[in-house]
Amino acid sequence: MEHQARAEAMEKTNVAIVGMGTVGAGVARLLLDHGDRTARHAGRTLWLEKVVVQDLAKPRNVDLPKGVLTNDLNDVLNDPSIEVVAQLIGGLEPARSIMMKLLESGKDVVTANKALLAEFGPELFDRARELGRSIAFEASVAGGIPIITNISQCLSANQVQSLQAILNGTSNYIVSEMEESEAAFESVVLEAQRLGLAEADPTLDVNGSDAAQKLAILAHLAFGARVHWSEIPLQGIDQLQLVDLKYANQLGYRVKLIAVAKLIAGGLELHVSPTLVKMFTPMSEVRGANNAISVVGDAVGRVFFHGLGAGQMPTASAVVADMMDTAVGRTGLTFKTLELWSDQEARVQMADPATTRSRYYVRLQVLDQPGVLSQITGVLGENNISIASVIQHSPDGQSENNVVPLIVMTHEAHEGEADAAMKKIEQLETVKSSCIRMRVLD
Ligand code: HSE
Repeated sequence: MEHQARAEAMEKTNVAIVGMGTVGAGVARLLLDHGDRTARHAGRTLWLEKVVVQDLAKPRNVDLPKGVLTNDLNDVLNDPSIEVVAQLIGGLEPARSIMMKLLESGKDVVTANKALLAEFGPELFDRARELGRSIAFEASVAGGIPIITNISQCLSANQVQSLQAILNGTSNYIVSEMEESEAAFESVVLEAQRLGLAEADPTLDVNGSDAAQKLAILAHLAFGARVHWSEIPLQGIDQLQLVDLKYANQLGYRVKLIAVAKLIAGGLELHVSPTLVKMFTPMSEVRGANNAISVVGDAVGRVFFHGLGAGQMPTASAVVADMMDTAVGRTGLTFKTLELWSDQEARVQMADPATTRSRYYVRLQVLDQPGVLSQITGVLGENNISIASVIQHSPDGQSENNVVPLIVMTHEAHEGEADAAMKKIEQLETVKSSCIRMRVLD
């Protein structure tokens, strides 16, 4: 607040925050307690004029100057002096309507709401363009990691060739914890909720939807793909079994929820799925609630980004940087040139998932008797799938019902053929479970 008061003499841009949850409070703190930074980096003060909340009485752990807090959005919409608004309301509605109203009242908007952009990006960006306004959204993907700016600006001399990413911190925390404490998915989720690291309803985090929404945004920026997130083949960590994490470790891999966008002959390969990642690679060592994105560009080669993808101050860091960029006019320029989600044709189509290729980890429960392995390898061979290694762990003594786990690592294979092979294998009388199959990233 002191800095806000002291900086009153210098040029300023009036800003507002709509929604004062965890991130909103972090944004207010950066603006109020560190106004010297915005002044130094933007050459102007970002003056917090209004904060709009639903419930004025709710306690907030940020000390707002008198007259700033309001429960009437009109205080922002009808104040032409407010130029930039951080719209920090989650969910789709009323977030969408409020964003429209802000744009229509002449505000440039900053948001962290990836679900809103993944669902209504085209409509919101078209409207912003029509009105000559801008939308900045660095915080919507990977929180504090500046991946949006890097892909859309710093790497713009490249043709991005591939992007592999850990985009959901909750899932990464859960799989890291399952691996370290050898605990089952359900018990780690309960512990994560108790610690406040997972939402009361973590469904969208653990079923891969959140990562797919973020991947759709990155795929649009990096490749010009116009894919709705729900079209992206998706598998979360909610079905992951501890036993597969253990076998992966024995094979020299860690399991991670990996989002992939990669140019292949048929278009853009896109998927989100639990994947075996080679140990001691940077991606395999991303632990806890961290996010990471590995980008390969034709000029730059591979670059790797790592950091916190959620949380109050990492997300506020991205939001305030966007507010500063907007206040000085940088966002307006890139927003115009990027033509995000415009009517232009997509530069690349999504490839048919069946045409993608990968190495696979496969686990089956099979009868421990002569000829079983040859039946299975026979089906794999008929489907052009070459085996890299096989592990069969027969327990000491008699196994239950004579059923044992069989783990097969394949060489690179065709997804469509792998799918067909698994269906045939599951029909064999000697195979007593459905196949667990995961991609492998070396
Ligand atoms: N819930 C997300 C995560 C952060 O766990 O990464 C917000 O998108």
